[in-house]
Amino acid sequence: MSIRILAIESSCDETSAAVCVDGQILSNFIAGQKVHEQYGGVVPELASRAHMQHIVPVVDAALKKAGVSISEINAIGYTQSPGLIGSLLVGGQFAKSLALSQKIPLIAVHHMQAHVLANLIDSPKPSFPFLCLTVSGGHTQIVQCESPLSMKVIGETIDDAAGEAFDKSAKLLGLPYPGGPLIDQYAQKGDGNRFKFPKPSIEGLDFSFSGLKTSILYFLQQAGKSVTYKQSNQTSIAEQEKFIADNLPDICASIQQRIISILLDKLEKAVHQTGIQSICLAGGVSANKGLRKEFLALAEKNGWQASIPAFEYCTDNAGMIAITAYYKYKEKQWSELATPSTARANW
Ligand code: KG4
Ligand code: ZN
Repeated sequence: MSIRILAIESSCDETSAAVCVDGQILSNFIAGQKVHEQYGGVVPELASRAHMQHIVPVVDAALKKAGVSISEINAIGYTQSPGLIGSLLVGGQFAKSLALSQKIPLIAVHHMQAHVLANLIDSPKPSFPFLCLTVSGGHTQIVQCESPLSMKVIGETIDDAAGEAFDKSAKLLGLPYPGGPLIDQYAQKGDGNRFKFPKPSIEGLDFSFSGLKTSILYFLQQAGKSVTYKQSNQTSIAEQEKFIADNLPDICASIQQRIISILLDKLEKAVHQTGIQSICLAGGVSANKGLRKEFLALAEKNGWQASIPAFEYCTDNAGMIAITAYYKYKEKQWSELATPSTARANW
């Protein structure tokens, strides 16, 4: 008998629904929220309201595109955690109501586990065990995966996430939120070796990005002049703006280059430490063209097996929630419908 899953993702500012039949994603709709752009970041209250507006049409579209009716669905998967509590509650309560009305199981999914398992959506699938570099707006982790439902974090950021490093750098450059994709775009036309930003010296497999942000701030305050930071050496705002406007592609490429080298150096270290030579990329930042290219080049140089999800499964999407719910369904890992709480800010 087929396993048909409807999944819902609403952890941050994307409302998404997907249908998965026997491990194949038949539809994956994502509604973004432009409303946050003017605030330079996600406003939780506005995100919850936008989820309320989007959830019915998005779920409806996902079912229609897949050609599956709600009565044919075997289980509802949804993101339980981590995320913005108001946003999670909208998706969670909607999923629970659907499961109750259809008398089918409800499957709670961990958002970060789902990012990792996005690598199992398309073929060829990575072989187990594999190491996954998961890079998103809220997390930066190296995850060791033994099987779809058995994984552990072996390295993570001690401060900012890689996506935050992109977004905060972009903000310093006067670019709108979220700035990660824009840095990626400008970087393609720039020289990543032109400006040198310092590399953090963090022991083991952990990451740090807060120092990079500070060094970019000082660099811009000096308008690229290589002098030691002193308040009195600061250039005027007009000079800084002109410097940014004249050098934007090279600045973006240099920032991106540093973020990529911090990430891939640790991944390489993790491969040597664990002896696992199958590597995957996941999370919103894995949409970055420079990172994808260098990740694949690193694997090729060393003869490692490499996997990256298709673009639509990198940033937040319900397809990854559906594939995770599919594996959990096969193991009968579903929730009690009587459970009062469907959302947790942290897990
Ligand atoms: O995984 P995701 O969609 O949401 C979270 O779970 O956080 O990741 C969002 C992050 C944002 O910081 C965004 O700027 C970054 O992913 N991002 C990118 C690119 N596309 C999205 N960063 C760099 N280059 C990109 N092309
Ligand atoms: Zn995410």
